Amino acid sequence: MSKENIYILGIESSCDDTSSAVLCNDKILSNVVASQKIHAEYGGVVPELASRAHQSNIVPVVDQALKQANINKDQLHAIAFTRGPGLMGSLLVGTSFAKSLAYGLDIPLIDVNHMQGHILAHFIEENAYTKPPFPFLAMTISGGHTQIVKVNSYFDMDVIGETIDDAVGEAYDKSGKILGLGYPAGPQIDKLAQTGNPKAYQFTKPKVDGLNFSFSGLKTGILYFIQRETKNNPEFVKENLADICASIQYTIIGILMDKLKSAVKQTGITHIAIGGGVSANSGIRAALKNAEQKHGWTTYIPKFEYTTDNAAMIAIVGYLKYLEKEFSDFDIMATARLKI
Ligand code: KG4
Ligand code: ZN
Repeated sequence: MSKENIYILGIESSCDDTSSAVLCNDKILSNVVASQKIHAEYGGVVPELASRAHQSNIVPVVDQALKQANINKDQLHAIAFTRGPGLMGSLLVGTSFAKSLAYGLDIPLIDVNHMQGHILAHFIEENAYTKPPFPFLAMTISGGHTQIVKVNSYFDMDVIGETIDDAVGEAYDKSGKILGLGYPAGPQIDKLAQTGNPKAYQFTKPKVDGLNFSFSGLKTGILYFIQRETKNNPEFVKENLADICASIQYTIIGILMDKLKSAVKQTGITHIAIGGGVSANSGIRAALKNAEQKHGWTTYIPKFEYTTDNAAMIAIVGYLKYLEKEFSDFDIMATARLKI
């Protein structure tokens, strides 16, 4: 007898992307993301505007996800949604919508931790993509998070390092703001860095105990450096932009790789998976490939659309929880500071 196909609808609204995805078992049928452009004008995510944009996006995004998957809502087995961590006003939109839909369809509701979503995105079935074996180390790097997690099994994870202030994506975006680049600056710094000299300028790396990270001091260091140099030469940034970007990138990647190396040493685990928007960075990708050769690591980088915030990663966790019959009560609350 063939196994029944399980259809899960995922909803993600933790920050500034409204997303909905449909999965058939562990395969993606659709993954629709509406990114909110409005925040670019403000140089960062404005929570109230994000919440408002989610409200207008959620119905068309879910509708499109169902249409692209070519299934009817009555075929769904469960609704999975991001409970947290994230911006409260944003989370509330997805949470309320997911509850209403599951209630109306009389199917289970499944709450998902956004950080587990980033990690379990590696288990979405894709041609030619090898999934990491347990235990592995996951490094989630984005505008909202920077963590190193020891993943023992789908639902047994230990956070062994995390940022004590800014996330790594914020370090990119705030440095970019100092340099007069638009938001988000990460991709632009990455691009400019390709033609610059990474050792042109030196920035002090933070000294943080254990496997934790800190990026706020680096941003301040860059600000003071730019202020000092522009006093002598008002054209300093313009004339040296590629070198400045390459040096910032070199420092940030150095910080990430130093902590990863320590995590490998501490745990003896050499399977390394990454997730989050900063996984797109060419510097981190090259450093990981280099570590495969140099240190014998095996690294896992999912498809770009599964690394940035998306609902496919929420739906895959939903599917794994569905198999375990781990359903939520309808009085469950969105939780801005939800831990793994
Ligand atoms: O995962 P994501 O889309 O959203 C969250 O922050 O959760 O990540 C966005 C972050 C931004 O800070 C952006 O500047 C950064 O990822 N980013 C990059 C690159 N592409 C995106 N940072 C460095 N290099 C890149 N190529
Ligand atoms: Zn995220």
